[in-house]
Amino acid sequence: EKGGFDSFMLKEIFEQPQAIRDTIGSRIDLDEKKVVLPELKMSDAQLASYDRIYIIACGTSMHAGLVGKDVIEKLTRIPVEVAVASEFRYRDPIYTDKTLMIVISQSGETADTLAALREAKKSGVTVMAITNVVGSSVAREADEVLFTWAGPEVAVASTKAYTSQVAALYMFALYLSQIKGTQSAEQIAEIVDHLLELPGQISQILADADHVRQYAERIKDVTSLFFIGRSLDYAVSLEGSLKLKEISYIHSEAYAAGELKHGTLALIEEDVPVIALATQPDIYEKMVSNIVEVKARGAHVLGFAFAGDNDLIKTVDQVVYVPKTLPLLAPILTVIPLQLLAYYTSAARGLDVDKPRNLAKSVTVE
Ligand code: F6R
Repeated sequence: EKGGFDSFMLKEIFEQPQAIRDTIGSRIDLDEKKVVLPELKMSDAQLASYDRIYIIACGTSMHAGLVGKDVIEKLTRIPVEVAVASEFRYRDPIYTDKTLMIVISQSGETADTLAALREAKKSGVTVMAITNVVGSSVAREADEVLFTWAGPEVAVASTKAYTSQVAALYMFALYLSQIKGTQSAEQIAEIVDHLLELPGQISQILADADHVRQYAERIKDVTSLFFIGRSLDYAVSLEGSLKLKEISYIHSEAYAAGELKHGTLALIEEDVPVIALATQPDIYEKMVSNIVEVKARGAHVLGFAFAGDNDLIKTVDQVVYVPKTLPLLAPILTVIPLQLLAYYTSAARGLDVDKPRNLAKSVTVE
């Protein structure tokens, strides 16, 4: 049932090209190069009327939401707030009749996420779910559902569900920008073209998994490491860090690179591994300055860059290159080597990759 892989996690990592294809395929009109969402019950006019969006989720699904926030704000200029469900549900949130709530849950059964959904509905707020399980509580109770078509995810550490959630959020953001007219048809078509390339590009990254395995050998005995990035790279850093800590049990923290010097830089000393994502051109120079700061304290830095970037290697010790795509779409590619890194590090430490201690696949208690 593991299809020749030694764990469900590795199998599910390798299923990502298909999961992305299935999640975006039926939602792209290839002739018109635009997004269609036939499953939405509300009218376009209704959808276009929202002026504020909350994205509520837990764990990895919340991290997908952070990518979604940046993408929705960039493409539609609608303010989006992301919050963890366990906080949000007790917070007496501010709703208006122009508020849309998006809940994201792979299982569709996470107690806190479900409670946040129910609270919002009680207040008359429209809730759209992004979930992977047809017939789940979240799918049944939400007003609108966008399914991720990742197939069953068995490993506790979420991989293909995350990238599929991000893909579904791209679909939603593009659709919303189409009906609001915030992006031109050419801009939409360009993004769609690049989205269609992602599955093949993921396969390319997977074919080079051995590169990551070697780095895992290097970090498998460290006690602590750091992930840094800015904007979308920061959102992915959070996910890379969570993945690594939950299955390798190595302490790890993700930091917005510009925030390091406000405290965490004190922990950077000789040979501390720092994984630095640098795919976003608008803040690239700022990111390089932050890398220089950790290098100056002796950190060993593994950089992440787009293929064709010949500069980053001048500042860092090693670079993982991902195929070139639009900066907006980078998260779906950069997260793949980070998932592999978590997997290989856990395996090198002889741990149970699929069933990490203290964790459950579906958290149905609060
Ligand atoms: C981490 C992980 C968890 C889940 C979280 C939410 O790898 O899988 O952080 O993302 O428990 O679960 P769902 O998405 O089922 O609501």
